[in-house]
Amino acid sequence: MNLAYHFYNEDCVAGARAYLDDNSVDLIITDPPFAIEGDKLHKHYNRKEVFVIKGYIEIPKEEYAVFSREWIHEAERVLRPGGSMAIVSGYTNLLDILNALRETCLREVNHIIWKYNFGVSTKSKFVSSHYHILFYTKPGGKRTFNTFSRYGSQEKSENNRSLLYRDLEDVWIINREYKPGEKKNKNELPSELLVKLIQYLSNPGDVVCDFFLGGFSTAKVAKALGRCAVGFELNAHSFNHHFSEVTEIEENEWIDKVKNGVDDTPAKAGAPWSEEDLERLRTRFHELRRSGLTKNKTIVILCKEFERGSWSIIKRLEAMGIKEDQDLILSLMH
Ligand SMILES: C[S@@+](CC[C@H](N)C(=O)[O-])C[C@H]1O[C@@H](n2cnc3c(N)ncnc32)[C@H](O)[C@@H]1O
Repeated sequence: MNLAYHFYNEDCVAGARAYLDDNSVDLIITDPPFAIEGDKLHKHYNRKEVFVIKGYIEIPKEEYAVFSREWIHEAERVLRPGGSMAIVSGYTNLLDILNALRETCLREVNHIIWKYNFGVSTKSKFVSSHYHILFYTKPGGKRTFNTFSRYGSQEKSENNRSLLYRDLEDVWIINREYKPGEKKNKNELPSELLVKLIQYLSNPGDVVCDFFLGGFSTAKVAKALGRCAVGFELNAHSFNHHFSEVTEIEENEWIDKVKNGVDDTPAKAGAPWSEEDLERLRTRFHELRRSGLTKNKTIVILCKEFERGSWSIIKRLEAMGIKEDQDLILSLMH
């Protein structure tokens, strides 16, 4: 498969109009300027500005609504039907972005909260520690959502919780990346966040677009995961510095390094239970518990034997009125 990369040191609206066809992009992941004087934010952070690339282009607050409307209108045009868009936004001017989205045909899929450590401190109010990720789709086509791209349905944490369920929740806790001594864009998205979005929302070979490349983080992760990448960055300093970094990344170089999942959905998940199966479940449960196995180990074995998930097994046992401890004592007495 031939992957293509196209990056333009141009305004994203003019650039999209010039270079991107209608319905040509599978996934947009983007992090626009927030109109919060981002070019002066370093005053509040404990960070060495000498490593931050100059020329970050911020948008004046009074222009933000129009600015948002213009680029989101282009995003709507270039996204294929069924394509997805994830916009990262702070909350200060979130309303301008939401209003602009409402003027399009794009539909909300999730409003994700990204818990993030800004490292600022406050004395008379709570510390702001989240971003918003607006996950939208363009109607009219099949949307990509690779449910098992990272975790199988049976993968559990140490305390027996579903890792897939946790990964699919709409609150994400992902910390920023520290890159001491490295030249970087003012705000760079962590690769962990980009890997997650790209794995769930696109397939290898898809076109991933970023309207505001900044440090080219989206493009780098897209290439490392075998996707095509396209995007725009108006700041020539950032563009020139990071453009060459993308070329140093090997196509597919992270494909086997990131956490990959397989669809391990049990064969009989969702199928109706027969009376015989239910009776056999009751019998096997008591046999296994009487043999001295813990409840958790018993459930694991029952999942394999009955080719169903643990949730289904536990619900059936409950529905049969098996009050575990009492039943076990009774069965041990017989
Ligand atoms: C928040 S940063 C993006 C950071 C990026 N996601 C990353 O991980 O490095 C926003 C970027 O948009 C750029 N920018 C501002 N206005 C632009 C425009 N009209 N077209 C393209 N880029 C623009 C800024 O210079 C800045 O680098």
